[in-house]
Amino acid sequence: MTEKTKIAVLVSGGGTNLQALLDAEKSGILKSGKITLVISNKKDAYALTRASNAGVKGVVISQKDEGQALSFEDRLIEALEAEKAELIILAGFMCILSEKFTHHFKDRIINVHPALIPSFCGKGYYGLNVHREALNYGVKVTGATVHFVNEIPDGGKIIMQKAVSVEEGDTPEILQKRVMEEAEWVILPMAAEKVSAEIMKGRVK
Ligand code: GAR
Repeated sequence: MTEKTKIAVLVSGGGTNLQALLDAEKSGILKSGKITLVISNKKDAYALTRASNAGVKGVVISQKDEGQALSFEDRLIEALEAEKAELIILAGFMCILSEKFTHHFKDRIINVHPALIPSFCGKGYYGLNVHREALNYGVKVTGATVHFVNEIPDGGKIIMQKAVSVEEGDTPEILQKRVMEEAEWVILPMAAEKVSAEIMKGRVK
């Protein structure tokens, strides 16, 4: 039997998208991939607790670590290669990755973004900022996008999108919660399954 695609999830914060992936693996929605590693660039990220609760290895690799011979990205690459990760999922990972990094893992990195790309995306658009800008603009529909990661922030090929309504009286926090519940936690596991299955298929030749 072909081995499942080995997945590493990169996080920075609460990790609700990581939780959606872990739950999807348990329920069988994510059946072609196995999450074997969680990397956080923040040592106090709650996502690490979620990883540990699920019995998944969690490590901290931070830009702030001192006395390191290797750069932040080289330490990430080292950990991902040691794990033999085949798919890297950015789930609320608040770092922009260089061209060197994205080329190293070409077509093997996916990201969830809390808007309908090409709206409200690119440098500076992350977390609550995205929803604040969507409300300021006055859009009536927003949503989430899962896309491949290349050297352009939020610029890689789109894998899946889901629209979400903006309601009267929404605050950035309320809108963020609706976009997560109705879109991100739904399409990220689906996209992870799609890409994991494609990677598995590519190995069976
Ligand atoms: C999510 O809304 C995710 O889409 C967003 O940060 C949040 C992380 O939440 N990511 C970005 O804005 C990246 N550009 P989580 O830690 O609970 O998954």
